Amino acid sequence: MEKNLIIYFSRRGENFCNGSLKKLEKGNTEIVAGFLQKAVGGDLFEIETVKNYAADYYACTDEAKEELRQNARPELKRYLDSLEEYDNIFVCGPCWWGTYPMAVFAQLERLDFTGKKVMAVMTHEGSGLGSCEQDLKRICKGAVFGKGLAVHGADAAVSESLVTAWAEKEAGKAFA
Ligand SMILES: Cc1cc2nc3c(=O)[nH]c(=O)nc-3n(C[C@H](O)[C@H](O)[C@H](O)COP(=O)(O)O)c2cc1C
Repeated sequence: MEKNLIIYFSRRGENFCNGSLKKLEKGNTEIVAGFLQKAVGGDLFEIETVKNYAADYYACTDEAKEELRQNARPELKRYLDSLEEYDNIFVCGPCWWGTYPMAVFAQLERLDFTGKKVMAVMTHEGSGLGSCEQDLKRICKGAVFGKGLAVHGADAAVSESLVTAWAEKEAGKAFA
């Protein structure tokens, strides 16, 4: 039986949804990561930065842009050290300026992906997967890659059937 790990980053608070600002009680990616776990099981690991990003949407976009420009690696509250017990790794995050927040790479770079199957999951407001699959391929050396899933962030709460169908297929349970 394959063992799944769902790594995710998600930011609650003010965000852009279908063209207007909205305060999210639960982040879009957090919702999607929960559906994934419900669908295929496995462990959830949340990436959290020591320093919170701004609650204000526009201030946060500035912070994220600067981190991207610097290719920064923000400090995290805790790090996952090993993937040894897992077969499938789902990497879930919001699209920030076309790719994952730098905090996601701060975690991924510490792990050995040799022989693991990696799948990108991105929530977004129009950019789809952006460059996240190419970025994962650069960082997760030795992994094999499944097909990524882009979820429109504003539809996260109603994405369960989409996420479940995709996850069961990618995690190899479609014909089980
Ligand atoms: C800092 C920042 C940058 C963003 N950049 C993009 C972007 O380049 N393309 C896009 O489609 N959406 C972008 N968005 C929208 C988010 O990707 C989208 O709302 C996502 O679902 C948020 O997920 P979360 O609630 O899990 O953090 C951005 C949002 C933030 C806060």
